Amino acid sequence: MKGIILAGGLGSRLYPLTYATNKHLLPVYDKPMVFYPIATLVDAGVTEVLIVTGGPHAGDFMRVLRNGKELGITHLEYAFQESEGGIADALRLCEDFADGDNIAVILGDNTTDASIGSAVARFERGAMVFLRQVPDPERFGVPVFAPDDATRIVAIEEKPAQPKSPYAVTGLYLYDHTVFDIIRTIKPSGRGELEITDVNNAYVSRGALQWALLDGFWSDAGTFESLFRTNVYWARKTTGQRCENFDAYFG
Ligand code: G1P
Repeated sequence: MKGIILAGGLGSRLYPLTYATNKHLLPVYDKPMVFYPIATLVDAGVTEVLIVTGGPHAGDFMRVLRNGKELGITHLEYAFQESEGGIADALRLCEDFADGDNIAVILGDNTTDASIGSAVARFERGAMVFLRQVPDPERFGVPVFAPDDATRIVAIEEKPAQPKSPYAVTGLYLYDHTVFDIIRTIKPSGRGELEITDVNNAYVSRGALQWALLDGFWSDAGTFESLFRTNVYWARKTTGQRCENFDAYFG
């Protein structure tokens, strides 16, 4: 299994924080954001990693990560995404790197303390998505389950106004090599992007989409609110909840 971290985009929802660097290098407590998805991959035994980045600050990654050895990466590559074409467009750039292997993909602004190690070890073919119950599923891809079988996903809806389940499809995915053929068949969505949800629905229609619950904290960090929440969680966890001063300052 090879690892891919998608860390492109302009981060425009976080302007002015992202005027001077890439969103995925912003601090999450005591580390740049991208260290967290890297740790999730490395902890799962995935140490050959490709980072897809883009935008005006792409070069910053090399200054921060260098060759990745300090983070447990054994082989680090970078790819440059020319435009803001969406998650599946970024994934398109990874075909040569994957070279026929299965891939674990993590969005660079997703942090979790759940392990994907056993899913990675078991995974053979098809696709796997990781679900997490959230209070605001309408912000995410949301799974729709079969009425007669609560374990079977029949579709994923991207940011539905009326979510049909309380789960977010998190930005962690396992794919076999056929993902690249699927990406060649999908068309840009209403927001002009190649949607990862369309890729996942292609696996659903082949009966090849598996899922697992992410057992732990998970958040994206693409908005001020989610970035703040993510920082608070990791600050508390990293300090072993020794955040009395934190609480005191907040009164
Ligand atoms: C993307 C995906 C969405 C997924 C989310 C997880 O949304 O399109 O399906 O639930 O990542 O972070 P975005 O935040 O790029 O709009």
